[in-house]
Amino acid sequence: MPVITTIEDLRVLAEKRVPRMFYDYADSGSWTESTYRANESDFQKIKLRQRVAVNMENRSTASTMVGQQVAMPVAIAPTGLTGMQHADGEILAARAAKKFGVPFTLSTMSICSIEDVAEHAGQGFWFQLYVMKDKGFIERLIDRAKAANCGALVLTLDLQILGQRHKDLKNGLSAPPKLTIKNMINIASKPRWALGMLGTPRRQFGNIVGHVTGVADMSSLSSWTASQFDPGLNWGDVEWIKKRWGGKLILKGIQDVDDARMAVQSGADALIVSNHGGRQLDGAQSSIEALPAIVDAVGQQIEVHMDGGIRSGQDVVKARALGAKGVYIGRSMLYGLGAMGEAGVTKALEIIHKELDLTMAFCGRTQMETVDKTILLPGTFPTGQ
Ligand code: GLV
Repeated sequence: MPVITTIEDLRVLAEKRVPRMFYDYADSGSWTESTYRANESDFQKIKLRQRVAVNMENRSTASTMVGQQVAMPVAIAPTGLTGMQHADGEILAARAAKKFGVPFTLSTMSICSIEDVAEHAGQGFWFQLYVMKDKGFIERLIDRAKAANCGALVLTLDLQILGQRHKDLKNGLSAPPKLTIKNMINIASKPRWALGMLGTPRRQFGNIVGHVTGVADMSSLSSWTASQFDPGLNWGDVEWIKKRWGGKLILKGIQDVDDARMAVQSGADALIVSNHGGRQLDGAQSSIEALPAIVDAVGQQIEVHMDGGIRSGQDVVKARALGAKGVYIGRSMLYGLGAMGEAGVTKALEIIHKELDLTMAFCGRTQMETVDKTILLPGTFPTGQ
């Protein structure tokens, strides 16, 4: 067993252990993947200012996200098919997050259902909602999230239609996987994964199968999205969802300053600057590049979060410095889960936390709340102009 010290170590192990179709689903972007790559590489361009001879005792990474105490301002992002990276994936990741003291966000497109995660990992996690054509189904999903005492509703606004991911089409992505010869040969080389899957009944989209009339399984993610997701989604829908939900509402997928202003008007509690991990509009700005202009425009009126490209604690420090009150990790968590299940998610959180704590200290800050733009080297970071 290799010594794991970075998120990249977890990625390499996940690539070995997870069947190709699901590994590729996590580790890819749309079309040329230029936005997917920029999410990571734009972080590298930002330089930190090292300070010395500052008292570094009594450090704390604690903060809040939408009023909730967090051990560090890093939530787990909603990711589809998490329970296909590892058997019972959503339950394991939710448990790891809870023990660590950070929010876990369950995707509508999860394998384990809301009720199942609540029963086996405890209530209070956050729930991500997609708007589908069947409004009755959406209402029931919201009510189910309420019944599980979900701490926030994360409403995704950037997936009315699906960006094309070449690998998913080539791999014939589906859940459960179709047992073609190619898939069977690949799965046979992942005995750990296969054994886990044989030992769990959770192999379908738990929030959907059995809850939507006529849906027994989903032949392919792209055809399901095309037939069920509502291309007519608009700000009016955001209003009725807010009313129906009644709790903390976070809007995910904001890239543009004008949309950020609309988000403020909608009365949401937070927005997430996000390009869906580079999986939707290829050619869009990276999230860290888009962040400062949105913080300048609406940061006084609404809590601004971001996701996309966070692979280290240094990235978290940079996002905080540019005004993000909190960030989300999707792939960094999935790599841990695919590599080692719950222990891998815990490992991912520990790696990021340690890097975050030490980096903050090197920059001369002992409290998360004091991290601001002055820790960045002028000329190396996006300014929003
Ligand atoms: C769904 O959230 C996806 O990006 O595949």
